[in-house]
Amino acid sequence: MSDSATQQRSVQQDIANRRTFAIISHPDAGKTTITEKLILLGQLIQVAGTVKGKKHDKSATSDWMSLEKERGISVTSSVMQFPYKGRTVNLLDTPGHEDFSEDTYRTLTAVDSALMVIDGAKGVEDRTIKLMNVCRLRDTPIIGFVNKMDRDIRDPIELLDEIEEVLGIAAAPINWPVGMGSEFKGVYNLYTDTIHVFKPGKGSVVAEDIRIDGLDSDEAKALLGDEYDDFIDEIELVKGASHEFSLEDYLAGQQTPVFFGTALANFGVREMLDDFVEWAPPPLNRETEQRVVDAKEEAFSGFVFKIQANMDPRHRDRIAFMRICSGTYRKGMKMRHVRLGKDVKIADAVSFLAGDRELVEEAVSGDIIGLHNHGTIQIGDTFTEGEEFRFTGIPHFAPELFRRIRLKDPMKSKALQKGLQQLSEEGSTQVFMPQNNSDLIVGAVGVLQFDVVAYRLKDEYKVDAIYEPVNVYTARWVSCDDPKAFEQFKRKCADNLAIDGGGYLTYLAPTRVNLSLTEERHPEVVFRSTREH
Ligand code: G4P
Repeated sequence: MSDSATQQRSVQQDIANRRTFAIISHPDAGKTTITEKLILLGQLIQVAGTVKGKKHDKSATSDWMSLEKERGISVTSSVMQFPYKGRTVNLLDTPGHEDFSEDTYRTLTAVDSALMVIDGAKGVEDRTIKLMNVCRLRDTPIIGFVNKMDRDIRDPIELLDEIEEVLGIAAAPINWPVGMGSEFKGVYNLYTDTIHVFKPGKGSVVAEDIRIDGLDSDEAKALLGDEYDDFIDEIELVKGASHEFSLEDYLAGQQTPVFFGTALANFGVREMLDDFVEWAPPPLNRETEQRVVDAKEEAFSGFVFKIQANMDPRHRDRIAFMRICSGTYRKGMKMRHVRLGKDVKIADAVSFLAGDRELVEEAVSGDIIGLHNHGTIQIGDTFTEGEEFRFTGIPHFAPELFRRIRLKDPMKSKALQKGLQQLSEEGSTQVFMPQNNSDLIVGAVGVLQFDVVAYRLKDEYKVDAIYEPVNVYTARWVSCDDPKAFEQFKRKCADNLAIDGGGYLTYLAPTRVNLSLTEERHPEVVFRSTREH
C-alpha cells in the first residue's frame, strides 16, 4: 500500500474514533462536576478556552471575565479534548447562564451527540426542556445521567416517566439504583447483570471499582439484606415497564439510555463514559446548501459556530471556533473562506494546552480548532479546500430584549460602531439600525448580555454609553417573493423597519398585537423568528 493510502486509512480511523459532544442540563444539576470527573477519567490532554472555574477559582484566564466572577456565572464556552479507551473525546462546554442561551444553542449545532444531566431530586427542569428542543431539531442522540444519587432523590420510575412525558423521548434505563441517599448501595446493570457497589471517590480520586456478578449471587443477597426481595420485584417491574435499549433508536434521537450515579462522589460516571464512547456516533455527515458533506471525505471543510474575545489578556484578539466537518486541517494549509470568496493560508490555528495556546499541527473531522480572527470571520462562515458550499443550520434567534444606545461622548460614535459590529459578529449581541432615524438598538436574548456589552464597549473600545429602554417587543426577519407586495409593505411599515448587523431587513414590533396585525395585513411577507447565519 502506498504511503498516502496508509495515511488516509489512519485519518479515517482517527475520524471514526472521534466523539464530539456537549452536556445539556439545568443550572446546578451537576454539569461542572461531571465535566471535572470526565476529564479526570480521560486525563485531560487539551483545554481550549477556560474550563469554567468554580465560584472561587482564581485560575480564570481572561480579565473581562471578572464580570463572570462577580456574578458567579460562566459566560464562556470552552472545548476540552481527552483520550478514552482508544477514542478521542471532544467535550464542548456551554455557558451555564440562560442569558447566554444563544451561544449554547449554536454550540449544540457543532456536536454529534449530547449528555443530559438531570438532578435526581428535581427531575426534568426548564432549561433541559429548552435545550432538548434544540437537540431535537437535528435528532441529536442523547444519553441521560440522573445525578445526585447520594441524596434522597425522587422515585426513579417516576423520573423515567417524566423524561418520557415532558421531553417526549423514550427512556431506557441501563442501570438501576440500589437505594438512594444515605442508603445508596450502588447501581445494578440491567444488561450485564452486575452490581457496581457504591464507594465514593473523593476530589480527584476515582473510587475503587467493586463489582458483584449476578443479582442471584450470595454477595448480592448480602449487600441488599432485607431489601433483597423488594429489589428483585422492582427490577422485574422496571424490565417489564421500561423500554429496552436500542442502539438504533438512540442514534436516531428517539430513545435516551439512562444511567444513575453521583458525579460528586465520582460514581457511575465511568460506566456511563464506557458506554458513551461505544455508542455515541462518530462525526456525522452535515448538510450544506449545495450537498451533504460526508465526515470521511478527504477534502477539508468546517464552519464557525462561535467567536470569543479576550480569551487571554496577553493576546487581545478574537478566536473563531471552528468545527471540522470533513478531512484534515494541516498547519499551513490553504482554505477557501467561502463567504468572502478568498483563499487564506492558515498556519496558526490553535488548540490550548493547560490554558496556553498551542499551534495545532493536525486536526480531523469532529475536532474543534481556533482561528485568529481579525474581523473577517463571522459566526456561520464555511471554510473548504476550494469547493463552493455553505453549511446550514447555525441559528440566529430573534432577541427578546432591546435597548437604545446613547453615547455620553458623541465623538466616540466611530468606536461605538466598530465595537458593536464586532460584538454582533461574535454573536454577543445583535444590532439594529432603524431606517427612519439614526438610533442604534441592541438586542439580546437575556438581560445579562447587555451588561457584557456595556462592560466590553467600555473596556475594549473606551465607549461610555447609556442604555435606554426602547419600545420594541420583538424582531422578525422579513422577506417576500412578490417584489410589488414587498415594496408596499416597506412603504407602509417604514417606521418599524431596521437593518440588522448582518445587513438583513428586520421588522421591529412594538407589541405582540402589532406583530400579529402586521402579519395579517401583509400575508405575502414571511416573518421569521430565527435566521440562519
Ligand atoms: P452546574 O455546573 O450544572 O451548575 O452544577 P455544578 O456541577 O456546579 O453542581 C451544582 C451543585 O451540586 C454543587 O454544589 C455541586 O457540588 C453539587 N453536586 C454535583 N453533583 C452532585 C452529586 O452527585 N451529589 C451531591 N450531593 N451534590 C452534587 P454547590 O454547593 O452549589 O457548589 P460547590 O460549593 O460545591 O462548588
